Amino acid sequence: MRLRDLTDQLEGLEVLDGLSERLAGAVNSAVSPAKSLLSGTWLGHPLHPALTNVPLGCWSGAVILDLFGGAAGDAAVQPMVALGTVAALPTVVTGLSDWADSYGPERRVGLVHAAVNVTGLSLFAASLGAGRRARSLRLLGLAAVGAGGYLGGHLTYARGLGVDHQILVEKPTEWTDALDANSLPEATPTLAEAGGARVLLYRRGSQIYALSDVCPHAAGPLHEGTVDDDLCVTCPWHGSRFRLSDGRAVHGPASAPAVVYEARVRDGRVEVRVAP
Ligand code: FES
Repeated sequence: MRLRDLTDQLEGLEVLDGLSERLAGAVNSAVSPAKSLLSGTWLGHPLHPALTNVPLGCWSGAVILDLFGGAAGDAAVQPMVALGTVAALPTVVTGLSDWADSYGPERRVGLVHAAVNVTGLSLFAASLGAGRRARSLRLLGLAAVGAGGYLGGHLTYARGLGVDHQILVEKPTEWTDALDANSLPEATPTLAEAGGARVLLYRRGSQIYALSDVCPHAAGPLHEGTVDDDLCVTCPWHGSRFRLSDGRAVHGPASAPAVVYEARVRDGRVEVRVAP
């Protein structure tokens, strides 16, 4: 059986949906005030994958020392396991926050990813002070987080979780026709198409703002969101907020900015191009 066959089966495990739904709701209720912090909005990069390096590095190093470090390596093993275990706690919290905004197959695989990794974390924690059984526990722990890491990679590379959803979207770099200017109402998010790109247009007086309509977080339709007095649009799917003027994400879960366009009116038509 190929690994991909295994993850395909996990993606179809609808039996997990009831538990996932309740757990995701509870997680989002708990982390909602800290969503931007946990998502990495402030960093401009998803936080969870960056944090995974510390526990995985420490735990892998400890097992390598177990296997090849001899007596000289023993003194370093316990501190490395302890550091990895402490660093795993924010890693788990950020991962749960990301997972709670997923759906369907991603949510099912994500639940298994979390369960396997928490098992690994528990084994490493149990190894602290476990005496003669410590090495075996660490070896099992590394196997568990290795499996968890594979599932995390699958979520990103095969399912696109955490990926900026604008990277494969058409973006006109030359002035491109988008809409009849008379069809653009005042202060109303409006969807237009420009050279195959979905564009959110918003008029305030003589100023026209234009962003990619594709939310970078999970491709939500930004034109269905609301624009507030600060001229930020809120995505209807998970509540990310983007400044219309420069596309910057000012509230998570999105960490990447929305693509921003220049807009002008020529011969009664709104034209857009990617801002340089
Ligand atoms: S799709 Fe998730 S916040 Fe927009």
